[in-house]
Amino acid sequence: MNSSSSPTAVRAATRREFLCSLGAVGVASAALTALPGCEVAQLREGTSGEFQFDLANPTFANLALVGGMQSAEALGHKILIIRVSNAEYVALDRLCTHVFCDMGPDMAGHWDKAAETLTCVCHDSVFAKDGHVLAGPATEALTSYPVVVTNGIGLVTL
Ligand code: FES
Repeated sequence: MNSSSSPTAVRAATRREFLCSLGAVGVASAALTALPGCEVAQLREGTSGEFQFDLANPTFANLALVGGMQSAEALGHKILIIRVSNAEYVALDRLCTHVFCDMGPDMAGHWDKAAETLTCVCHDSVFAKDGHVLAGPATEALTSYPVVVTNGIGLVTL
């Protein structure tokens, strides 16, 4: 694994991004207000590249079962990897497009395995597995990234 695909390979955030991120954490807790001065694009900034993960790594144990999901950060992207079926995985931006709640598995994200939908429990926006909005208040789709898993090694193209 090279450094650009390491789970810890995250570029340094600008001060503004950092403050927006702090706000996103606050919103995840309070779940009430928009973040002043933060744009969706700012929270989505990241560079192109690949993120590799190993299903045998305990860090990704959540993906052992269908319906499992795992947060990851790479190249400036905060993503959520979801195991949709035995062979299908999806990767989506993890910050809700409404007011940026973090939809990590132990935060505001809830994956409905039967419906194959991701709900942001902050205000109940619902997203399809390809990221498009099924129910608001969010109006903008989550960015979706291609995922290929071969012999237990996953590759997300960011
Ligand atoms: S932050 Fe409001 S629905 Fe997700």
